[in-house]
Formats: sequence, structure tokens, C-alpha cells
Amino acid sequence: MKKIIIANWKMYYGPIKAGAWIRAFRRERLPKDLDIAVAVPFVSLAAARASLGRASIPMLSAQDVFWAEEGAFTGEISPSMLSELGTQLSLVGHSERRQYLGETDEMVAKKALALQKAGIVPVICIGETAIQRKRGEAAKVIRAQIQAAIADLKADGKAPPIFAYEPVWAIGSGKPCSPQDAKEMHETIRAVLTKKYGKDAERLRILYGGSVDQRNVNDYLTTTGIDGALVGGAALDPRGFGLLCRAALPA
Ligand code: 13P
Repeated sequence: MKKIIIANWKMYYGPIKAGAWIRAFRRERLPKDLDIAVAVPFVSLAAARASLGRASIPMLSAQDVFWAEEGAFTGEISPSMLSELGTQLSLVGHSERRQYLGETDEMVAKKALALQKAGIVPVICIGETAIQRKRGEAAKVIRAQIQAAIADLKADGKAPPIFAYEPVWAIGSGKPCSPQDAKEMHETIRAVLTKKYGKDAERLRILYGGSVDQRNVNDYLTTTGIDGALVGGAALDPRGFGLLCRAALPA
């Protein structure tokens, strides 16, 4: 399975800086056997697309989407609007949205389905909090989040979902989840997917996210069952992110 690294800029970089980041990143030497995407704020997608020109790397991702095609939903962005800008993926259910904007599993499921129908790959983010882990509930929480998100989702077709296991306590904390602990959670996720999709589940990618950087990225990508990474802070500098991509899968 081809691995993928997705940069998540979060709420950084308006159109001007986004364009500059893409132009700088395009000068980086990148491993061929790695998919690379960058999740950009809505307002910067057009500028990122323009700076990409005809280049296809990195792929463009949104950070969120709304589930309806159009209508009276002030402030929201539909999957087809994202498609017009050449957006190939979109995050859904990032823990920061669950925390600050009250996103529920049900909303995440509707968003993922709307993306898939529009041919955009949903990147479904899941993860337990520190308290949930301490109480021994991590696996239970993850199972519930996944089951809700994939209720109506297909595993095949042109936009098979990607999953990102991002323990909330590891995000932006400099305290990553060990590859061994991540592996265990990825196995839990894979088991839920296999129950629903059978053999098709084998082709679905499950990424790790949370304090991934240039030094530890290779430990994750060489761990069985971890199919890539979702990177926040360490992706803000385009040269640093280029280095991270090269470190992920050294030639
Ligand atoms: P950090 O890499 O900054 O911990 O962020 C992870 C994340 O939330 C990516 O979506």
C-alpha cells in the first residue's frame, strides 16, 4: 500500500503565504513512492491551486466541509465548491473541530458521505482524550467514532476513505504516542473496518497524527499497520516538511 503524508496547516496561512509555501515546497526533492497532500484553509485553496500550476504534488486537501450540496447554510462550503478548486481530499472530524465547534460523530458521518459522493477522499480523524486513555476507554471510544463515521460509507470506488488516528493528548504536545501504542490502536481500527468491509478493508489507509516530526516520522511509517502520517506543526515550514517527507521513506 502506498503511504501518504498529509500536512495540516490548521488556521495558518492566508492566500499570500499559502502561495509562497507551495512554490517553496515545489522546489523540494521528494520520494516518488509517497503520496503527499496539504490541508489548506478554505480561503487559501485557490491560491494554493494557482501556485501548483500543472504540478500534481502535493495534492490539495480541505480541512473541513459541509454535508449539503447547496442551500441556506450561511458560512458553509460544499463538496462541489471544493471540487471546483481541484481539491482531492478533505479532513473531517478533526479533534479541534470536535472540541471547539461541537462536531459530533453524526456530523462527521454526514460530511464524509457527502465528500465521497462528490468524489473527494474523506480523511476521517478520530482519537481519544487523555482522560479517556487513563480510564482504559481508548479502544472503546475509537471503535464508536469509527463505526459512526463509516455507517453509510463505501470502501471501494474512487474516493475510499482514509483514517487518521490522532490521540488528542499527542496533538501539538510534543508527546507523541509511541509507535507501539499507535500500532495497537491501528489494529483496533483495522478490525472495525474488516468487520464492515471484509477484504476491502485491507486497502484502506490508516494514518497516525500527533507530534510527528522529522526525527520520528520514519519510526511510524516503518511500523506495520501505519500507512502514513498527518502532520501539524512540523509541516508549517515548507523546507522542513520536505525534509520530513524524505526522512519518512529514505531511499
Ligand atoms: P501536531 O503535528 O502539531 O501535533 O498536529 C497534529 C494534528 O492535529 C494534525 O492534524
